[in-house]
Order: sequence, then structure tokens, then C-alpha cells
Amino acid sequence: MEQFIVEMRNITKRFPGIIANANVTLQLKKGEIHALLGENGAGKSTLMSVLFGFYQPEEGEIFVRGEKVDIKSPNIAYELGIGMVHQHFQLIDNFTVVENIILGDEPGGILIDYDKARKQVKELSLQYGLGVDPDSKIEDISVGMQQRVEILKVLYRKAEIIILDEPTAVLTPQEIDELIGIMKNFAAEGKSVILITHKLKEIIASADRVTVLRQGKYIGTVNVKDTTEGELAELMVGREVNFDVDKAPAQPGEDVMVIKDLWVKDQRKLDALKGLNLHLRRGEILGIAGVDGNGQQELVEAVTGLRKVEKGDIILQGKSIINDSIRERITKGIAYIPEDRQRRALVMDFRLDENIVLKTYENEPLSHGLLLDEVEIKKKGKRIIDEFDVRSSEGIDTIVRNMSGGNQQKAIIGREVDLDPLVMVASQPSRGLDVGAIEYVHKRLVELRDQGKAVLLVSFELDEIMSVSDRINVIYQGRITGDVLPEETTVQELGLMMSGSKEVTLA
Ligand SMILES: Nc1ncnc2c1ncn2[C@@H]1O[C@H](COP(=O)(O)OP(=O)(O)O)[C@@H](O)[C@H]1O
Ligand SMILES: [Mg+2]
Repeated sequence: MEQFIVEMRNITKRFPGIIANANVTLQLKKGEIHALLGENGAGKSTLMSVLFGFYQPEEGEIFVRGEKVDIKSPNIAYELGIGMVHQHFQLIDNFTVVENIILGDEPGGILIDYDKARKQVKELSLQYGLGVDPDSKIEDISVGMQQRVEILKVLYRKAEIIILDEPTAVLTPQEIDELIGIMKNFAAEGKSVILITHKLKEIIASADRVTVLRQGKYIGTVNVKDTTEGELAELMVGREVNFDVDKAPAQPGEDVMVIKDLWVKDQRKLDALKGLNLHLRRGEILGIAGVDGNGQQELVEAVTGLRKVEKGDIILQGKSIINDSIRERITKGIAYIPEDRQRRALVMDFRLDENIVLKTYENEPLSHGLLLDEVEIKKKGKRIIDEFDVRSSEGIDTIVRNMSGGNQQKAIIGREVDLDPLVMVASQPSRGLDVGAIEYVHKRLVELRDQGKAVLLVSFELDEIMSVSDRINVIYQGRITGDVLPEETTVQELGLMMSGSKEVTLA
């Protein structure tokens, strides 16, 4: 029998009310890049947290180098040579790279010889071509570099089995290529890499084998060279997938919204938008491409009225709106699908119909003076859930917390589209949704623009930007550095603009 460096047999891990992993198997070979593929919520992070000793499974066995092990904690995982780079970095901003790496180690963190550690970090960085400066402070380096610090932490602790949880989500296309190179170096050295991802292109470009999970269940393991993106997609979602967004060419009209020299500060009072200019026309979807943290959130918040404008102007149909309240902007035609639906768009413990009228309940016929009209509210709730195909166990009486993410998003879209807006601000509208719900969201956005509305689409998924947008603006460090048409650009060119190495403006 073939010897695997790691073998997870029949792992079952439950959380209250859900089986995150149901009888899952994973066999990792030494020196391979093994992708773990699945939609959001499929159980990938849970399975790897079990391997990393962060969770204890209810059932199943784990073998490392042929021996049965009991991985009770991450420290035991490290003793077995297993390290994990999490989706959300665990670095201290005002510490240096070396300090962060020492801190992650134990025992007796601070007693460690700093110069020796620094030398080791430098050597590791050089050996694997990571290009990390050991003395930089975390707050001064890019997100891509911060990720490499996390990788260095794992290498410093001598991991031979390296788990990377959705590492490419925060990277530009060029940085993704570099990361693939780094993973291949690891594999060539005999290290084993587990790459968690839902992106098929990356798997094809980097992995040797791929294990697919769907709704907590093990679907299968295939050799990458014997498969295709289409087949992997089908394994992932359980049916054939159409990646193309069906749409006729846009028929853009006049400018609906113009943003001029916009300056906005972020949470930390630092300039996040630094003289941003853009214009948005009727009947077009303008996609904002960029790496997270380049001012996307501040742009969306400035337009919707959640954040103060320091300087510059936002002009809707010829009139400045920067002094208008959130409610006034809604009345003037700005609708908003937020990036965080649970915190920003929904009151999770309210009923579905209450959430559907959240922005309009003060108006006739939903209320008369101070009195809410429950009959009208229910009527509107029913109309929207029918029209937008929102499914839930108890119809409009369902508490929103108990609905799936996809159906929550459909309810938000229904509510916002029903406002009959001039401008739809859609901020990462497909984040965390399954493929079916993503198709739905895209279809609705295209419908809106076909009705002559203007759509501002912010997304970190370049595939989404490329397939849904009629025009693309690239945002980099608080400014628009590219204004291009999707059919005239490439992901590579967008990547150069997203990292500030190139600027392109439409004539
Ligand atoms: N700590 C937790 N408590 C309760 N439920 C959890 C927890 N972690 C994950 N889940 C649930 O388990 C399922 C699998 O989650 P996860 O492993 O994070 O999926 P993936 O990484 O594939 O997106 C999801 O339904 C998720 O909501
Ligand atoms: Mg995950």
C-alpha cells in the first residue's frame, strides 16, 4: 500500500446544528501540491483546522508518516511538522517581521536569541525567494508581503506539511503567480502543500492532485493533469456550471453620477481616497477592480452616505449629494447591496418581511403617520419574495438568521431593486455565495442595467469584474489608475494597474 505523509480517515466534525465534515478522507503524498476544493461552507477550513489540531473531530483517524496520531493542539501539529497559514493573518502591526515570527514560536518567546532568529529568517526568505525584509514593520509592508511573513512563521517552525487557507484571495494576479512559484519550490524540496481554494484556474496552474468537498462530504480526489476546469466545477457544485454571464452589449447613456477629486479618510483617520475621479453612466455596469484595502470600502461608504467626504464632490444627476443624509440619498435613488449582508443590510433577528421594508416602512402605504400597516407590510414582503425567488422555511415570517446566505442576498437584492434606484452600488455582491446564487446576482445586475440603471460593482474577484462589467476602473491607493473595457484588457494588465505599475485611461 502506498505510504501517505498524511492520511485523514473518515473524519466527522460537527458544530451545533451542522455537520461540517461528514466522513471525509484526505490522502496527502510527500512532495505534492494538493488542492482542497469546495464552495463556501463546504468544510475545507474545518477539515484543515482538524489536521492543525485546532478542532477535535468526533469521529475518524489521522495518520502522519504512517503513524496514528492525536493532534490535540496546534503545538502538537507543529511537532509533527504541520503548519498552517490562516485566511486572516495573525500579525502585530507595529512589530517587525522578525518579532512577529519569534512571537509565533514557543516556548519562552522573548528569551530567544534575536540576532540568531533574524539571521535564520533572512536565510529562509532567501532560500525560498520570498524577498521579505526581516526588519520591516508589518504596517509598512503590502498584504502580499504580510502573507509571506505568515509563510515564514510556518517555515521557521520547521513545517514539512504546509496548509494555506485561501491564500490567493488577497493577492494580485502577479502575486498569485509568484505564490504558485513559491509553492512549487516547497514541493520540489519534498515539502507537501495543501492549498485550500475555490478558484479552479489556480488549481490547474499549481496543483498535482485535488480533493473535492461538497456540503461537508467527500466527493473525490482527482489528478489535475487528467481533469478540466469544467469537470472540477461540476464536482464542486454537483451540476454543470455555466461560467459565462449572458448579456447583450451595453447601451450606456448620459452620466448619472460623477465623482470629482474625492478625498475620504479611513477608520484610522488616514487618507483612503486621494483625489478619486470617476463617472458612471445610465445603462452600464462599472466594475471597480483592485486589491482589498485600496479605498474600495471608503468609496462605497462615501457614495452611500456612511462616511464623511473631506474634499471633492459626488454629483448625482447634476446635484451634489455629499451633504445629504443616508435616507435622503436613498430617496434620490441610491440603492446599496453591501459587502457584509449580516452586519450592514439585515437585522438578523427580525422577520423577513420586516427586513424587506427596512428602508421604506416610514412611507405610505406601509405606515400611516406613526402607525405601521402590518397588512401592507406583509403584502409587500410576499410580492418581493415571489418576484425574487427568496426561499425560506416559513415564508415572510422566517427569522432572517435562519435563512441561507444566498436567500438572504436575494432578499436584499429584492428590497434594493424595488426602490427603483438610479444607481445600484453593489459591493462584493457574490461574496460567500454558492455558484447558483452567484449566477442569480449577476443576472439581476445585468437586468438593472438593461432597464437603464447605473451599476457600480466593487469586487475583489477579477473573473467577476471581467465577466459582469461593461467598463472597468482600477482602484489603487485611493485613486483610479485604469479605465478600460473588459474586451480590450486582460487579467494580467489589470494586475499591473492593481499594483500601481501601470496606468491606463480611456481616450
Ligand atoms: N466554529 C464554528 N461553529 C459553528 N459552525 C461552524 C464553525 N466553523 C465552521 N462552521 C460551519 O461549518 C461549515 C463548514 O465551514 P468551513 O469549514 O469554514 O467551510 P469552508 O472553509 O469550506 O468555506 C459551514 O456551514 C460553517 O458555517
Ligand atoms: Mg474556509
